[in-house]
Amino acid sequence: MSGARVALVGACGRMGSLIIRRILATEGLTLSAAFDLVNVGRDVGEAIGVGKLGVTVSDSKDLAAVLKESETDVLIDFTIASATAVNAPAAAAAGVNLIIGTTGLSAEQRAGIVDAVAKNKVAAVISSNYSIGVGVFFKLVREAAKLLGDGYDVEIIEAHHNQKKDAPSGTAMTAAEIVSEEMGGKEIVSGRDGLCPRGKEIGMHAIRGGDIVGDHTVMFIGNSERIELRHQAHSREIFVGGAVMAAKWVVSQKKGIVYDMSDVLG
Ligand SMILES: NC(=O)c1ccc[n+]([C@@H]2O[C@H](COP(=O)([O-])OP(=O)(O)OC[C@H]3O[C@@H](n4cnc5c(N)ncnc54)[C@H](O)[C@@H]3O)[C@@H](O)[C@H]2O)c1
Repeated sequence: MSGARVALVGACGRMGSLIIRRILATEGLTLSAAFDLVNVGRDVGEAIGVGKLGVTVSDSKDLAAVLKESETDVLIDFTIASATAVNAPAAAAAGVNLIIGTTGLSAEQRAGIVDAVAKNKVAAVISSNYSIGVGVFFKLVREAAKLLGDGYDVEIIEAHHNQKKDAPSGTAMTAAEIVSEEMGGKEIVSGRDGLCPRGKEIGMHAIRGGDIVGDHTVMFIGNSERIELRHQAHSREIFVGGAVMAAKWVVSQKKGIVYDMSDVLG
């Protein structure tokens, strides 16, 4: 569908500001509203350095009213889990479709969003990683886990910039869920310290430093050999393109359903 009106929550953040730039450059999408904790009351274009856009940064406590007034079709949310857990159900109740990029949602927070999407008959995409390459990476991880089976230990190493708030990354957790599905229920053990004999587990390791955009390595380690699958993000643009693609896609999907990026990519 063309002509979708898209709002951003987390509009002034690393991801939000890049997504706004992409929306401005995408035919058929219009920036309808912007929300953040910072720069409230300022023109969002001036706040993110692209010049006046005529869209003011609103406080997310006014989310529902501003979304209705701005006739928003889709809300894209890249913030923090505690904010998304409140804002996503409020947007769904206002009849707005959702693209959620925020990571670190608990099972309970996610269930609250899934409920709100079903009850209010909107459509949503929730993905821990909007990169197309990571979609392929997840497929390769699934295939390796399926083919290798139980004789191999699995360790996941992820690395991100020093401003990332949650650990392990949502992408690492998705990779672990895929391995666990294919290898039959493995517990995640984050880091190891002291006495910790290896059991039926997936070892999870998080590195934080500098400006690393996002690296993920899944290691399948057997006796005498190992396979390592690795994805490295060179730029946030890979997430931006996928999130904007999902926003265009979600407006014409069957309502009441939470999709993931593999649905968007077909
Ligand atoms: N799914 C993906 O592909 C993907 C890719 C990159 C980042 N992320 C995730 O997106 C989220 C944001 O990442 P970032 O690097 O842009 O972070 P960031 O800290 O640069 O930006 C977050 C923005 O959200 C705003 N914010 C926080 N609470 C808010 C609230 N209650 N209401 C409105 N705005 C609020 C902050 O002020 C900030 O501007 C993180 O959870 C990160 O892990 C996901």
